[in-house]
Amino acid sequence: MAKLSSILLNSKIITKKESQLVPNSFDVVGDIAIFNDFPKELVKKEKKIAGKIIETHNNIYVVAKKSKKYSGRLRTPKITILAGDKRKETMHIESGCRLNLNIETCYFSSRSGSERLRIAKKVKKNESVLVLFSGVAPFPCVIAKRSKPKEIYAIELSKTAHKYAEENIQLNKLDNVVLFQGDVKKVLPTIKKKFDRVVMPLPKNAEEFLELAKKKLKPKGTIHLYSFANEDDFKDIKKEYKKQFKHVKITKAGHYSPGVFRICLDLKN
Ligand SMILES: C[S@@+](CC[C@H](N)C(=O)[O-])C[C@H]1O[C@@H](n2cnc3c(N)ncnc32)[C@H](O)[C@@H]1O
Repeated sequence: MAKLSSILLNSKIITKKESQLVPNSFDVVGDIAIFNDFPKELVKKEKKIAGKIIETHNNIYVVAKKSKKYSGRLRTPKITILAGDKRKETMHIESGCRLNLNIETCYFSSRSGSERLRIAKKVKKNESVLVLFSGVAPFPCVIAKRSKPKEIYAIELSKTAHKYAEENIQLNKLDNVVLFQGDVKKVLPTIKKKFDRVVMPLPKNAEEFLELAKKKLKPKGTIHLYSFANEDDFKDIKKEYKKQFKHVKITKAGHYSPGVFRICLDLKN
């Protein structure tokens, strides 16, 4: 497939100068193409640009842009549809799992798919896994499908995301996933169990919940805690966590902004 800027230039939708502004890529969630940072200078042409994407991409039925980035406790974006069907709901396929979701009322990032699979591959047979901040349940679904855990418990605050999560567990015919809707701080203390692995995908402030998560970890268990960090700070971050855990490993799990990465901290004693 030719570059989007070339397609638009050849169709005379944009000028050569404007072609420099066209984003190199867009996210694809199910059959929806989403621009994260649509350039202000091209707003007048956005509908034509979006229409051309639908015309040239067989798998895309909706083109949208994020008009506000992820925000608030539920980490939801504001989405504007530019072309195609007037819907924000779609079915995304990831690592063989079907995930139904609404791109505006739920948090979901297709870019984190490879990271979810990386974690799923670490899960050993018969492990008990706890996923905090589980959203529409991509981690539980991918872990349950790709590994052989005994059980997966998951907690999500958003009622809407929880509803989709319930649907997704059914869609993927999973019988070892237990979902809870509510605040981790309130729900987790009521779960009288210890886990081999705890996944904490809330990079903005997962650390606030670490003490609580530690209480639910088996002595040889692992925590995967997500955060945002500048590469220059990795050494200091590792040193800080070494005060609490014997083994600390940092893995880059995506770009956040120039120089800043989404990181996964593997914490283990
Ligand atoms: C960054 S998203 C990750 C969602 C999902 N794990 C994924 O990978 O797509 C964080 C999720 O945590 C939820 N959340 C935020 N604070 C929470 C809390 N105190 N208790 C439970 N869930 C929370 C948000 O609603 C959001 O769905």
